[in-house]
Amino acid sequence: MKKILVAVGSGLKGGNTDQLADAFIQGARENGHEVQKFFLGGTDLHGCMGCGACQKNGNRCAVKDVMQQIYPYLEECDTIVMASPLYFWTLSSQIKAFFDRMYALSKENIYPQKDTVLLMTSEDDTETTFDRPDSYYRFIVKALGWNNTGTYYAGGCHMKDGKKQVPERHLNGAWLLGKSM
Ligand SMILES: Cc1cc2nc3c(=O)[nH]c(=O)nc-3n(C[C@H](O)[C@H](O)[C@H](O)COP(=O)(O)O)c2cc1C
Repeated sequence: MKKILVAVGSGLKGGNTDQLADAFIQGARENGHEVQKFFLGGTDLHGCMGCGACQKNGNRCAVKDVMQQIYPYLEECDTIVMASPLYFWTLSSQIKAFFDRMYALSKENIYPQKDTVLLMTSEDDTETTFDRPDSYYRFIVKALGWNNTGTYYAGGCHMKDGKKQVPERHLNGAWLLGKSM
């Protein structure tokens, strides 16, 4: 049984990214894993201040926001799952801030060992739609010494009958990735 933390970096509860994350979570729970989900949109999440306090204060971040609830789970989880809509060809600002704030987990640029997953949604659906965030994600995960255990990119999430909609095949794909954890 793994401890999995899911950070949803979308502004829309129940939106496409939230739906994709929930499908992943369902699969992971069905496989017996413990999942803790945090929805970052609409919270007081701040970017990193770069003050360096976390490097002097035993990994305690000085910014008093939603990350203070998340840090204990980040420390103990095996897998960090980040879910993001594609915003202007890259990750959402919430997920970027979440990444930057994980600096507080490090000591002398060494990070605790974690597996990671990236889930994304977008309207476009071409071969290159997710190239930029995919390349950034793979680069940073390697740079921090982490282990990418899967990505799922759901392109073609269009409005249908006035509602946001993730195609069923993508919900199934994310569920399967969750099951494979
Ligand atoms: C500010 C903004 C920028 C976006 N940029 C892109 C983009 O570059 N490419 C794309 O395919 N879709 C883009 N979209 C559409 C979203 O990626 C897509 O609707 C996504 O599934 C929304 O997820 P959500 O329901 O979790 O917000 C953008 C949407 C917004 C609001």
